[in-house]
Amino acid sequence: MPLRIAILVSGHGRGSNMAAIIDACQHGEVDAEVVLVIGTRREAPALQRAAEKGVPTRVISPRNLGEEEYALRLLRALGEAQVHLVCLAGYMRLLPVAVVQAYAGRVMNIHPALLPLFGGKGMYGEHVHQAVLESGLKVSGCTVHFVDEHYDTGPIIVQRCVPVEEGDTWQTLAARVLEQEHQAYVQAVKLFAEGRLRIEGRRVHILPPKPS
Ligand code: GAR
Repeated sequence: MPLRIAILVSGHGRGSNMAAIIDACQHGEVDAEVVLVIGTRREAPALQRAAEKGVPTRVISPRNLGEEEYALRLLRALGEAQVHLVCLAGYMRLLPVAVVQAYAGRVMNIHPALLPLFGGKGMYGEHVHQAVLESGLKVSGCTVHFVDEHYDTGPIIVQRCVPVEEGDTWQTLAARVLEQEHQAYVQAVKLFAEGRLRIEGRRVHILPPKPS
């Protein structure tokens, strides 16, 4: 049975990383199936996009729920869909600890900078790119990492770099990084699906391809 993936998106998520993962699975580039997309708000453009690609969607809103109840609902949905890997894609909240623990080593996130720089609470989207520009760094990039109990601190799986160009605005930098995000996320999911990731402390070892 191919690897069963759920993708979690936030309220206003446009879902381009989500779409890259779905496409790679549907086109056979990755031996996995996205079986569920969970959004925090019904209006999320990402949910519409997932439905157009034939992927089942659900809305689980954390609003008016305690952390425990939100976690329970997520765990129930993931369990019912027999999910093995959870991908956060433009999911701007801290995933409840109960979910992180139940899926230890099986939750990934994408971040639009080279972690451990420019991560943490409040560091998302344009805030990240603004901070990179203000820092004067000449390179930026993206990071796919396993998720732990904190913002952006889990073991790093894949990173890709881009140059910061003269005259960049946060928008032009974000667009350059986003192109790399799509490739990096697909690469990380493919490595996971092939059983080639081994976590050892803070390091993620990439094992050689298995002989076919
Ligand atoms: C992406 O750039 C992703 O790296 C970022 O949100 C964007 C979502 O875009 N995530 C974070 O900043 C998390 N801290 P998308 O909806 O088109 O995939």
